[in-house]
Amino acid sequence: MIDLRSDTVTKPTEAMRRAAYEAEVGDDVYGEDPTVTRLEEKAAELLGKEKALFVTSGTQGNQIAALTHCRPGDEVILEASSHIYIHEVGGFSTLANVQIRPIPGINGAMDPVEVKNTIRSENIHYPTTSLVCIENTHNLAGGAVLPLSNMQAIYQVAKVNNLQVHLDGARLFNAQVASGISVKEYAKNADTVQFCLSKGLGAPVGSIIAGTEAFIKRARKWRKMLGGGLRQVGIIAAPGLVALEENIEQLAEDHAHARIFAEGLATIDGIRVENKVETNIIIVNVKETEHTPETFVDALKSKGILAGVFGLDTVRFVTHYDVSREDIDKALIAIQAIV
Ligand SMILES: Cc1ncc(COP(=O)(O)O)c(C=O)c1O
Repeated sequence: MIDLRSDTVTKPTEAMRRAAYEAEVGDDVYGEDPTVTRLEEKAAELLGKEKALFVTSGTQGNQIAALTHCRPGDEVILEASSHIYIHEVGGFSTLANVQIRPIPGINGAMDPVEVKNTIRSENIHYPTTSLVCIENTHNLAGGAVLPLSNMQAIYQVAKVNNLQVHLDGARLFNAQVASGISVKEYAKNADTVQFCLSKGLGAPVGSIIAGTEAFIKRARKWRKMLGGGLRQVGIIAAPGLVALEENIEQLAEDHAHARIFAEGLATIDGIRVENKVETNIIIVNVKETEHTPETFVDALKSKGILAGVFGLDTVRFVTHYDVSREDIDKALIAIQAIV
């Protein structure tokens, strides 16, 4: 099977497996796992933040951000198709007890003026706006890279109004590789940053959340409460270190594969690529074929290609390091055959 459903399906590399085997470990709840400490220090340095914390998943990192930044009853501004709003099981409202105020964006980017106008004024009837969340790259916008200027403008609005900014950078390294702007530069426009080691970077488990020392101290407690305080976790932090040391550059190849795939798709009758394909995600409209997204995905599966149903008329493909150039060609041939 050629698995183009997501970049979460990558298998750990030999180097990651070896690193896990050889990892020096200790009890991380006591702060005694040297491998985790190394990973957290490296992540903090890459992001230009004081401290970082290894968490089990991107979802856990985002939830910890809300729990740490907000008080129950606060309001959080975020983009209407953001992962936090659509795909985190309503955790912000259930766990952090905050109200979400979604703003529809363009290619995942909220208009800074709209963000400003959405901030609550002081009024006995209103919740307190305390946090703005940004997502870069933006998953449901097809891996769109948020312009740095957009992040800067939103950060400025937030600071003038005394709000915190959290960046859901599950795929922030894809943004770096696509734009040439460093993760550090992006991270300057957020108080806290979450990024995933287990997406295109290929680690089997884990995410990082980074911010000030005081923030991370409080975040560590929330992580413990959520059951994310782990023991000899250097075993899984070690592949994360390999991901940061060896796998960032190869994202460029994933992006190149995605572009080649999109160009190939554009030549197939009835198929329309819906997004700009800036990184590793391709959203394909199949409305003008004989298929629904479900039958399209089933037909492709029978030819050994896995894709994901994305929307009413759309299917999603994601490139990653377990997908070769030949796999892209095979997928194009399979799509040509089924439409
Ligand atoms: C933008 C974004 N944020 C957060 C997450 C959550 O990451 P995890 O699956 O590790 O919980 C994802 C997962 O796809 C994502 O795309």
